[in-house]
Amino acid sequence: MNKVTFLNEFTLQDFAFLQNYTQRVVLVDENTKRYCYPLIADLLGRHALILIKSGEEEKTLTTCTYIWSEMTALNLDRKAVLINLGGGVIGDMGGFCAATYKRGIDFIQIPTTLLAQVDASVGGKLGIDFQGLKNHLGVFRIPNLVIINPVFLQTLPYPELRSGFAEIIKHALIADKAQWQQLQQTALEHLVWQQIIPHSVNIKTSVVEADPTEKGLRKILNFGHTVGHAIESYYLPTAKKLLHGEAIAIGMICEAYLSMRKNNISAQELSDICTYILSVYDKKYIQTTDYEGFKSYILQDKKNEGATIQCALLGEIGKATFNDIVSWEEIADSIDFYRDL
Ligand SMILES: NC(=O)c1ccc[n+]([C@@H]2O[C@H](COP(=O)([O-])OP(=O)(O)OC[C@H]3O[C@@H](n4cnc5c(N)ncnc54)[C@H](O)[C@@H]3O)[C@@H](O)[C@H]2O)c1
Ligand SMILES: [Zn+2]
Repeated sequence: MNKVTFLNEFTLQDFAFLQNYTQRVVLVDENTKRYCYPLIADLLGRHALILIKSGEEEKTLTTCTYIWSEMTALNLDRKAVLINLGGGVIGDMGGFCAATYKRGIDFIQIPTTLLAQVDASVGGKLGIDFQGLKNHLGVFRIPNLVIINPVFLQTLPYPELRSGFAEIIKHALIADKAQWQQLQQTALEHLVWQQIIPHSVNIKTSVVEADPTEKGLRKILNFGHTVGHAIESYYLPTAKKLLHGEAIAIGMICEAYLSMRKNNISAQELSDICTYILSVYDKKYIQTTDYEGFKSYILQDKKNEGATIQCALLGEIGKATFNDIVSWEEIADSIDFYRDL
């Protein structure tokens, strides 16, 4: 069961349970140490800090070795707790280190980016990148507690905020038509995070609880990610590098197009999706010469079975389907559609 607490401020009482542990350790990067840690430091009781460098490039076995070494140097026993204060990198990697240290100690996620609050901290997927493969090593383990507080978003750079917002759009499109309508009527800067975030998290939680290890239904959370993830991966080492959500925004347009082609949504609904997404994210210039690069990533996608490409599409607005088989030609056609918008 995912245990998630939504807060709008922090009090001593919120962290009183930490006194039941033998030791408390907070994992931070230089940004969350500077912007987030001061908001809770005085409420945690006596604790130690482990500081790592920020960035996806740091989500490696080398950094885990450093974290495990620090945990060992602190003599943490099995009744200690690790508090992961940061974005998805800290949460995924800190959770992985906690889940493996002495066969697993308790850990708490305090996500500080929008992406981590509505997506990465919920659902129990933990891990690191390995030999250039994203999230290649990891485990499923539900955190003992997730504490979500939008106060952290105040210091988050706008591109990061907008990137995380793509997952909120995704959750609405796959599971909540009313929220989709509300999003379209409200400018991003006027959204009330205290309402939107819990709503979006609840969508993810209910999907994950129905299918914790992604045997079926959980795959609907991959809407926009078959195409989006391939675009993100291909551009990663180039000057056209995109944030995750920026790539997923493109992927959602392409996969909404595929949903329309399969007669699941109407041309008007597709047009609404494109208009809204392009009002939040600038349109990116994609060259046809990049297609072969996207294709190689799409063919490697973890969701495929054998040589067939499988993705999650919209069945209608607010409902998604999974294991939808699409051909590379159909995907190329959907990227042409995006380019022509
Ligand atoms: N486990 C899952 O289910 C899941 C789901 C989605 C994504 N992820 C993972 O999440 C990671 C991406 O997470 P992310 O987008 O949060 O990136 P991130 O953790 O790299 O954080 C983005 C940047 O924001 C900084 N930052 C964090 N909080 C801040 C704040 N409040 N104020 C100022 N700066 C702040 C960080 O230091 C970093 O530089 C990826 O590794 C991805 O694989 C995991
Ligand atoms: Zn995503």
